[in-house]
Amino acid sequence: IPVDPFDFVIFGGTGDLAERKLLPALYQRQMAGQFQELTRIIGASRSPLSDQAYRDFARAAITSFVKKEEIDNDQLELFLARLSYRQVNAMSGEGFEGLKEALSESKAVRVFYLAVAPNLFGDIAKNLAAHDLNKGDVRIVVEKPIGRDQASARQLNDAIGEVFDETQIFRIDHYLGKETVQNVMALRFANALYEPLWNSAHIDHVQITVAETVGLEDRVSYYDKAGALRDMVQNHMLQLLCLTAMEPPSSMEADAVRDEKLKILRSLRRITDSDASKLTVRGQYRAGASPSGAVRGYAEELGDRSDTETFVAIKAEVANWRWAGVPFYLRTGKRLAERVSEICIQFKPVPHVVFDESAGPMTANQLVIRLQPDEGVKQWIMIKDPGPGGMRLRHIPLDMTFADAFEVRNPDAYERLIMDVVRGNQTLFMRRDEIEAAWEWIDPIHAAWANNQQSAQGYTAGTWGPSSSIALIERDGRTWHESV
Ligand code: BG6
Repeated sequence: IPVDPFDFVIFGGTGDLAERKLLPALYQRQMAGQFQELTRIIGASRSPLSDQAYRDFARAAITSFVKKEEIDNDQLELFLARLSYRQVNAMSGEGFEGLKEALSESKAVRVFYLAVAPNLFGDIAKNLAAHDLNKGDVRIVVEKPIGRDQASARQLNDAIGEVFDETQIFRIDHYLGKETVQNVMALRFANALYEPLWNSAHIDHVQITVAETVGLEDRVSYYDKAGALRDMVQNHMLQLLCLTAMEPPSSMEADAVRDEKLKILRSLRRITDSDASKLTVRGQYRAGASPSGAVRGYAEELGDRSDTETFVAIKAEVANWRWAGVPFYLRTGKRLAERVSEICIQFKPVPHVVFDESAGPMTANQLVIRLQPDEGVKQWIMIKDPGPGGMRLRHIPLDMTFADAFEVRNPDAYERLIMDVVRGNQTLFMRRDEIEAAWEWIDPIHAAWANNQQSAQGYTAGTWGPSSSIALIERDGRTWHESV
């Protein structure tokens, strides 16, 4: 369905995010027929570039990051014709007057996407406001990292909040745009089956894994200062935890959903100096293997010694009525054995076994929501082995794979999120208090690591992280779910 015409301005228009994600996602929406004639996309950055040079940049980005079979030359030309470029300087404010003039030709919805380093968020917001570009149907989009702790997140939020209203601010966590992540809500709240069981009476524990096989990629300076806890846990992992743990919202309206997520963040039991070494594991990869062959260790890639963690495992506790005594085990890391993200709900065993030993071991039910790759949902149940050999039981999945169930392309998270920004729907975007509450739980973990000198333990690239991560869960008589 076409959406009303809009103007989409990308600050950092020639940067990595624009190249890899935003321009390809916008192109896909063109392909989907969502853009009307007057929709315009304006790249903005410090470099002097002509409109034509920007179109060439966009063409190269799209042909590199969109699958060949998804490129239609006519649509690509139509898309490129919407593009123009503005040279702007966020610090000095040069170029904003010209941008204002260009935009004043239309009264359409305006989106300012800040695909730039966070230290520029405040300056860009201020310059937009100085040119009255914060008025009307305007939305501003920012991406992580939103701060490196609660104090710096507050400063960033203040700087933007000074000139934009919270209803105009769209803080992206791209995990919320993933189809399978939204499916957690569909599964929980569109089925009568799960919700009655979704609590400590029936669930033994929850595991959330976001495993990657990639290493540092070209992000040395950012990553080494951040580490996995800031890069993945503060945002993506906590959002997954919130969607899994939250109470049913009264509607899908943005604040109804965000209020429930916030309650979960505020229920997370604070990790202290004295229990951090029991509840958290930090790791850093050493030389080993990846699917593409032998790889160097983190320090070699970095070219320096470093104690930055590339792996984190945490035993988290949601201290509320529903989840009392149900641990949430989180783990994420780079250069792990497999690229896989999933949420695994481990149910409790049946209360009484009526079968004799020849039936084999009784395995408790498991629900595995596979976020990527091979998106799908597996509900593991006990079934009788066919045949006359008596009552032998097996643990078998009811298996729903998205690719088989739906013969449509799985859109990238940014496609959904960008169009939600245009439509003004904030449900899948983080509110200010959510970000700050997430840091409130993360900051003490960093502090404990520093106070206890809990250093990152080495793990061989291509494995599942340090052995202490296995110990973290096995101490409780449980094991990490192996994806099958
Ligand atoms: C980003 C992190 O937010 O998410 C990266 O900064 C990480 O380090 C990426 O690789 C993972 O996203 P996806 O969509 O590939 O799972």
